Amino acid sequence: MLNRHEILEKHGLLLTVAILLVVAVGGVVEIAPLFYLKSTIEKVDGVRPYTPLELAGRDIYVREGCYVCHSQQIRPLRDEVERYGHYSLAAESMYDHPFQWGSKRSGPDLARVGGKYSDAWQRQHLIDPRSVVPESIMPPYDALDRTPLSYADIAKRLKANRAVGVPYTDEDIEFAKKDLEAQVNPFSDDYDAFMKRYPKANVRDFDGNPSEITEMDALIAYLQVLGTMVDFKTYEPKENDR
Ligand code: HEC
Repeated sequence: MLNRHEILEKHGLLLTVAILLVVAVGGVVEIAPLFYLKSTIEKVDGVRPYTPLELAGRDIYVREGCYVCHSQQIRPLRDEVERYGHYSLAAESMYDHPFQWGSKRSGPDLARVGGKYSDAWQRQHLIDPRSVVPESIMPPYDALDRTPLSYADIAKRLKANRAVGVPYTDEDIEFAKKDLEAQVNPFSDDYDAFMKRYPKANVRDFDGNPSEITEMDALIAYLQVLGTMVDFKTYEPKENDR
């Protein structure tokens, strides 16, 4: 038996075929289950689709290329968990199209930056990073503060997300524009309807200028929700997740 492998080793073509066979078996074992499992993502309480304003902020995050320097995925390694908090769950980015895990960290991971700083800090940091972190190498994004948010097409953006699997309802899409405006105005008549659609959403003027909805409002609304949807005081991983 032991010297029979000589046959394989001395015949290149035979060896190639044998390798292909072995790899094919391994591939089938790994890939086949993905076709009949309905989902590989464990559902987790609290994770909801982005509000229209957060979604608009996410689009700005992508447009400005923040992912070039920032990841949004805390790996289950001790140093990362101690620095950033609970490791990222797959469910936390299930409504992200495309996902923002990133592959480079010139700056810190942002997966749990929501609630870490005040809105005023976020605004100041985006306008002039070195005014709050003197050694920062992050570029300034002061234009966001002066640019009115363009959201005439927000319903279409929700629709596009629904097309790739985000469970926005017809109502969410119909009221997208109203919901976007309601999120920056705690006194609006649409407050209750908005909160019903997006439980626990942050409602306030994010950029300190209530007279206008700017790109800064949207980006800060997005940053402030990152990593805050799951309540890790009550979250229990399933046995096979540990
Ligand atoms: C050239 C790389 C680079 C780009 C591009 C960049 N950042 Fe940063 N960012 C950094 C670095 C470095 C830091 C750490 C120093 C600091 O706080 O400024 C940082 C810090 C941050 C922090 C604070 C994180 C924390 O936990 O303290 C936030 C929030 C942030 N960036 C958001 C953004 C957003 C939003 C964008 C896109 C509009 C962006 N960054 C683009 C490099 C970058």
